[in-house]
Amino acid sequence: MSHALDLIRRTFACRDGKILAGGVPVRDIADEHGTPLFIYDRGVIERKLGILRTALGKHFTIYYSVKANPSRAVISLFLEQGCGLEVASGGELFQALEAGCQPSQILFAGPGKSFAELEYAIRSRVGEIHIESRDEIGRIEEIGHRQGVRVRVGIRINPTSEAQGGAMQMGGKASPFGIDEEELDDAVARLSRSETLELCGVHLFSGTQILDFNVLVRQYRKGLHIAQKIADIAGKPLRTIDFGGGFGIPYFPGEAELDVSTFGREVATIVDQAKKIPAFAEASFIVEPGRYLVGESGIYVSRVNTIKTSRGKKFVVVDGGLNHHLAASGNFGQVIKKNFPIVLLNKWQQAGLETVDIVGPLCTPLDMLGRNVNLPPAEVGDLLGIFQSGAYARSASPMSFLSHPSPPEILVADGEAHLIRRRGKPGDFLFDQIVDGSHS
Ligand SMILES: Cc1ncc(COP(=O)(O)O)c(C=O)c1O
Repeated sequence: MSHALDLIRRTFACRDGKILAGGVPVRDIADEHGTPLFIYDRGVIERKLGILRTALGKHFTIYYSVKANPSRAVISLFLEQGCGLEVASGGELFQALEAGCQPSQILFAGPGKSFAELEYAIRSRVGEIHIESRDEIGRIEEIGHRQGVRVRVGIRINPTSEAQGGAMQMGGKASPFGIDEEELDDAVARLSRSETLELCGVHLFSGTQILDFNVLVRQYRKGLHIAQKIADIAGKPLRTIDFGGGFGIPYFPGEAELDVSTFGREVATIVDQAKKIPAFAEASFIVEPGRYLVGESGIYVSRVNTIKTSRGKKFVVVDGGLNHHLAASGNFGQVIKKNFPIVLLNKWQQAGLETVDIVGPLCTPLDMLGRNVNLPPAEVGDLLGIFQSGAYARSASPMSFLSHPSPPEILVADGEAHLIRRRGKPGDFLFDQIVDGSHS
């Protein structure tokens, strides 16, 4: 079985030869709502959350990382399940609060929080702000002082390199994220002296899309080592130790699922030992995953619009492209373009007889959704499904490029498909523009 079919069968059910999301045939949803669109299966998200919770056991609290998929209905789902939220902009904070998240259940990270964003977060009394630079210490102090409040902060540390891994490394080298481990003494001493800032904990997050649990185990050990140093310098126990996200999902041939159960067992031993140390006895251990929780739930569905052959190469042109799904085009952090799992949804059980390139409608050679994909003979009107598209897909895409309407989103649960975001209108691109002196 092809890698794509294997992944699809593991995640989604089938009935009468049709792939189902939340019990509804994906093809029917596409027919009803039109293409291109994103479809998410709520049951898959809940299953992934359940697996992670079981693996991590009672010691860890899960904060959903909103950037992976910031749709209101998805955020609400995690709130209903008792998760906190990790946000990384004023906009995400706004969405978290609008969805009804208790401010105390929000963590605010990000390397370039503006003064206004920090004012908003502090006024909203978020649970913790994660400090990413020395500059930020001064800025938060100033705002806390002005608002007359003590601000709970964590310090994000960019660790030294020995615990690295994952597809996109965000630490262990020169990095805009966090304060270098080599400089933590000064930063922690400064925080400890502050009358406005209350140093609660540490935040460590050095890479995303990690599939090898050993890498995570090494990072958690390293994290605790750093946390101990911070507690020693601060001279007080820590309240939170946030290990970040980074749990990966398989996208490409040769990639296996992350073994979260073994990871959970290993990390339970580490945490049990850590809890005996006074610095961590009362600490809450946090993870803030995004991709692992929502990535597998999503399918990006487009329709074949044109088929053409150029100099012997067959191109299947679909009605949505990198403007909606930058990651599938390989332009969101991939060094070498690899294909996401792709099938023709109305022919997925037929043998792949052709090797084609799948491109979107944009006038750029970058708009390549699949290179040398083996498919059954494609025809105009066929439906194309790109799987593993629930995280860093729609929200990580340049939707205004070429001014196509933005794609709608459907969340399917228990046999019902709910439209959770409308398709944009072509005119939407005009609304924020200043035309004919309307600025005066
Ligand atoms: C601070 C922070 N937390 C959590 C995440 C979520 O990471 P992932 O989706 O790999 O779990 C990210 C992703 O970039 C992040 O920057």
